[in-house]
Amino acid sequence: MKKLIIINGPNLNLLGKREPEIYGGETFDSFLEKIQSKYVNVQIDYFQSNIEGELINKIQEVGFSYDGIVLNAAAYTHTSVGIGDAIKAIETPVVEVHISNTFAREAFRHQSYISPNAKGVILGFGLQSYILAIESFL
Ligand code: DQA
Repeated sequence: MKKLIIINGPNLNLLGKREPEIYGGETFDSFLEKIQSKYVNVQIDYFQSNIEGELINKIQEVGFSYDGIVLNAAAYTHTSVGIGDAIKAIETPVVEVHISNTFAREAFRHQSYISPNAKGVILGFGLQSYILAIESFL
C-alpha cells in the first residue's frame, strides 16, 4: 500500500471559516474523510501545524519512508528557507499545492521556497488541488 501524507501549514486549520471567498466553505476534516474513503488502497496521513519547526520535524520524520508528501506550506511557502532546505534534504518527493492561484494574488505570494525543490506544483483548483497531487503519486 502506498503511503502518502498531506502536510498543511499555518492557518489551514481554519479552512471553512477563513476567508471562504478565497479558500471555500469546507473544513479540511470533512474533505480529508472524503478522500480517505475515495482512496481506500492508499494510506493518506495528515498533519497540520502553525509552527514552522514542527512542519520541518514532520518532513524529516516521513521523508525517508513515505512514497509522497503533498505539502501546502501556506504562508511559509513565501518565507521559509528552512522548509525549502528540508525538502532538499529528504528522499520522498514533494508535490507543492495551493488552494488559491497564488500568481493571481499579491506579489509577495509569487515567490516560493518550495517550488525549486518540489517534484511539481499544483495550484488554484481549490481543495481539488490536493486530489490532483494525490493522483500524481498513484
Ligand atoms: C495558500 C496560499 C498562501 O499564499 C497563503 O498564505 C495560505 C494558503 C493556498 O493554499 O492558497 O495560507 O497556500
